[in-house]
Amino acid sequence: MGPVAPRGDLAGHLDPALGQGTDLRRDPRAQRRRAPARQRAHRHRKGHGVGEPVNVGVVGCGAISAQYFRTIERLPQVRLVAVADLDPDRAGEAVRPYPGTDVLGVAELMADPRIDVVLNLTVPAAHAEIALQAIAAGKDVYCEKPLAANVADAARVLRAAGEAGVRVGCAPDTVLGTGTQTARMAIDHGLIGRPVAATATMLTPGHERWHPNPDFYYAPGGGPLLDMGPYYVTCLVTLLGPVTRVVGASGRTRAKRTIGSGPRQGEEVPVKVDTHVTGVLVHESGALSTLVMSFDGVATRSPNIEVHGEKGSLVVPDPNHFDGAVLASVLGEEGWRELPVSAGYVEAGRGVGLADLASAGSGAEPRAGGSLAFHVLDVMESLLDAARSGTAVTLASTCERPLPVPLRPLAGELDR
Ligand SMILES: NC(=O)c1ccc[n+]([C@@H]2O[C@H](COP(=O)([O-])OP(=O)(O)OC[C@H]3O[C@@H](n4cnc5c(N)ncnc54)[C@H](O)[C@@H]3O)[C@@H](O)[C@H]2O)c1
Repeated sequence: MGPVAPRGDLAGHLDPALGQGTDLRRDPRAQRRRAPARQRAHRHRKGHGVGEPVNVGVVGCGAISAQYFRTIERLPQVRLVAVADLDPDRAGEAVRPYPGTDVLGVAELMADPRIDVVLNLTVPAAHAEIALQAIAAGKDVYCEKPLAANVADAARVLRAAGEAGVRVGCAPDTVLGTGTQTARMAIDHGLIGRPVAATATMLTPGHERWHPNPDFYYAPGGGPLLDMGPYYVTCLVTLLGPVTRVVGASGRTRAKRTIGSGPRQGEEVPVKVDTHVTGVLVHESGALSTLVMSFDGVATRSPNIEVHGEKGSLVVPDPNHFDGAVLASVLGEEGWRELPVSAGYVEAGRGVGLADLASAGSGAEPRAGGSLAFHVLDVMESLLDAARSGTAVTLASTCERPLPVPLRPLAGELDR
């Protein structure tokens, strides 16, 4: 059998700067610098004293909201002021541990002059609509992932935010934790040489086993790629830079899923999306990432993410978590060794990206920023298009690699 690619072909397309040494930036484009601390938004909001926290209003008080409320309590940059949900009882119940938090209607929350940032924790189908309402009210918005149910809606959100001069942030912020950031530091310092490839595997039997309202996971905007892919693709872009082209294939095993817990246990949910998605992402650097995202398997022993370079390989921990061990195997050394934690927010939780947005100066892109989230959504939607059409799809979008996070405590100053 002949070579898979002509000799030297892959190396010829690799970014020569990628992973070549200490402090070398892999993305050749200039990074936008963050504003000095004195220009930071949370220090210069109208009606806020210097160093005062930014006021947050939360829309959507479902399963994930409790994690945010716990983190916000630990973060000096942000303060929970009010919540809203289509179901006001759910909102009230969610903030029972946080007395003094107002329960408002959605329109009331949007009009509330105290609120600087809307934290959008609604289901993916409502992300764009809520974000656009927040932007129209002149507020910054930080959204759970994905940024919107599709690229067209996400583009409307970013366009509206640009016109209104407000900032957009988006989950996942897990990549700001010590797991992904330690791996990034290792790559940036040349430990594995030039990165050539990565693999990313997420495989589970499906969230309907534990989520009481899993409908959205099987509706357009859901599926394993749009649900879990944001963690993996955001991590891959953080480690290897933006993506230029994708190929893919996908399928589904069942037309219905049965809810496994809660008041609707036993109820069937229709499956309207593919539930096993595979693909290859061609990074601008020339590195190739192979992706497997599935709600159709039972279990896997594949690492969540591996990155392979010319001089070594890394095992990167679960990008759905903030921490975890980074393992390295380097040419000339025996076996695998665990790398010391060297970068990222220590003991971080969901919401650290919101604090990063609150700390970014006006005009500065937050680390968990809208343009990164837009590119990640574009990668995923393009991969699904490629799977449907059976052809490679060239991406229209790109993004800058977000700034790295030096090692620091969660509540520490988010300055560089
Ligand atoms: N559940 C998890 O483990 C998890 C983890 C990470 C991220 N997320 C993401 O968080 C988001 C929410 O997920 P969840 O599991 O909390 O969902 P959920 O269904 O439990 O909660 C969503 C809440 O949003 C409310 N809502 C929906 N549309 C609304 C609207 N237009 N206005 C006001 N409220 C509205 C619903 O009433 C509900 O209370 C999703 O984007 C999901 O991808 C969830």
